[in-house]
Amino acid sequence: MTPAVDRLRQDFQGLNTRYHLADGRETPRYYLDSAASTLALRCARQVADELLRYYANAHSQAHFSARIVNHAYDWAHRQVLNFVGSSDSGHHVACFAGSGSTASLNRLARALAARRPERDIVLVSLMEHHANDLPHRRHASQVIHIPLTGAAPMLGAVDTAALAQLLGQYRGRVNYVAVSAASNVTGIVNPVHDIAALAHAHGAWVVVDASQSVAHAPLSLSDTGAAERELDAVAFSGHKLYAPGSPGVMVVRQTLLEGHEPDELGGGMVDDVSVNGYQITDRFPDREEAGTPNIPGAVQLGAVLNVLQRIGMAQVHAAEQRLLRRLLAELTAIPGVRVYGDLDLDRTPRLGVISFNLVGLEHGLVAAVLNDYHNIAVRNGCFCAHPYVRELLKPELWELDLDPDADDAEALIQPWRGMVRASLGLYSTDEDIDVLLTGIHDLLANPDHYRAQYQADSDGNFHHRTFTVSAASLFDPEAAVERTLAQFSATPVL
Ligand SMILES: Cc1ncc(COP(=O)(O)O)c(C=O)c1O
Repeated sequence: MTPAVDRLRQDFQGLNTRYHLADGRETPRYYLDSAASTLALRCARQVADELLRYYANAHSQAHFSARIVNHAYDWAHRQVLNFVGSSDSGHHVACFAGSGSTASLNRLARALAARRPERDIVLVSLMEHHANDLPHRRHASQVIHIPLTGAAPMLGAVDTAALAQLLGQYRGRVNYVAVSAASNVTGIVNPVHDIAALAHAHGAWVVVDASQSVAHAPLSLSDTGAAERELDAVAFSGHKLYAPGSPGVMVVRQTLLEGHEPDELGGGMVDDVSVNGYQITDRFPDREEAGTPNIPGAVQLGAVLNVLQRIGMAQVHAAEQRLLRRLLAELTAIPGVRVYGDLDLDRTPRLGVISFNLVGLEHGLVAAVLNDYHNIAVRNGCFCAHPYVRELLKPELWELDLDPDADDAEALIQPWRGMVRASLGLYSTDEDIDVLLTGIHDLLANPDHYRAQYQADSDGNFHHRTFTVSAASLFDPEAAVERTLAQFSATPVL
């Protein structure tokens, strides 16, 4: 990393947050939950704040401010297209929607089903987040899950041979293939361009959920420039891209949306409306963005993409890979730690997400101890990817004599069904990893001591018996409002 990039890595809001811990210490927070949401890149936020000086609604050119805002909002769309290497030929359009990729994926599922109802099957990989599975289940007649390579718990990426077989078996019926660029559970990377080539050879489209990869690795609509390897649609979330408060994004081949009435109707996307009818504009992205958009959020997101492009995603990726390799090597060397997914990074590349369990300890207990005693923010559970987590855990559940495929499996396998997830961001450091490894060693050395400190509730959450911290004592929006207003007046605010 160059010195400039190293300085940029310090420019995230929340890196100096400190909390009091159960053992009486006060330490910095170690944020290893970037797969859920990343911290905010301050300089990108500043760009959006600067825009607020001129803020006005878009959808007008009448006054200076409206023109400035339109210009900035268009710029944000262009940053998205530049970032994914969209050529100037206008094949793809970028649209902002909702608060994350869920909105984009629902929209895509509806639009693609309506476009070719005769193709009634969607192939969805087994490793998907629910956001890239359930919308397709709702809108296609049938979703078939594509198996992964290898065997649990060491499952790899999408099995392209199995995909080819499914495409052949259901020739003429597969509308599209939906896969993630990288898993939110294991960080395992899918060969999305190979998948696109296979899908296209069978007349199917490919929808890629890039929520976990866009901030961590280069992402290009076509890796070689070849049309058959080009992705038809890509979705991602701004809040996983160092821009909390920004919208979800969809980049989609324009022809897939043309002629299809958008799902949301309202202002800003019609050329004419009379009491008897309305004329939807042909202009993209306007026709897909009814209503007043989240302009500051989109501009913040555009600013992040611009900054990342200046750094170079290859450099961002390389820095994260170094930390990932270290974390993976050291975790797997600890007896009693089980890491999920294929561990051979040369055979199965990953991004900076690792899910693990400590043998004999519930995932909820591990996450609680790491938080309360080590100030480490990790996540635990099934990460909104139940089919994948269940598949990865199958051998363990069988060992416990539990049948993961039984109808009542859900109730039986709690609290064992789950994992602890540590995930990296641009600001992650070796110190984060040192602290995590120390916490894990500590837990494995003193399991009974820690277990005695906690009681579990019926949802599998572990609560410390004597140490409690109320969220409101750390940050209370009401108190923050009062503090802010206090600067305007010495009189207390009613
Ligand atoms: C791979 C993946 N896809 C989709 C989503 C859904 O994103 P959002 O909640 O921002 O809509 C997530 C969120 O965790 C994810 O990790």
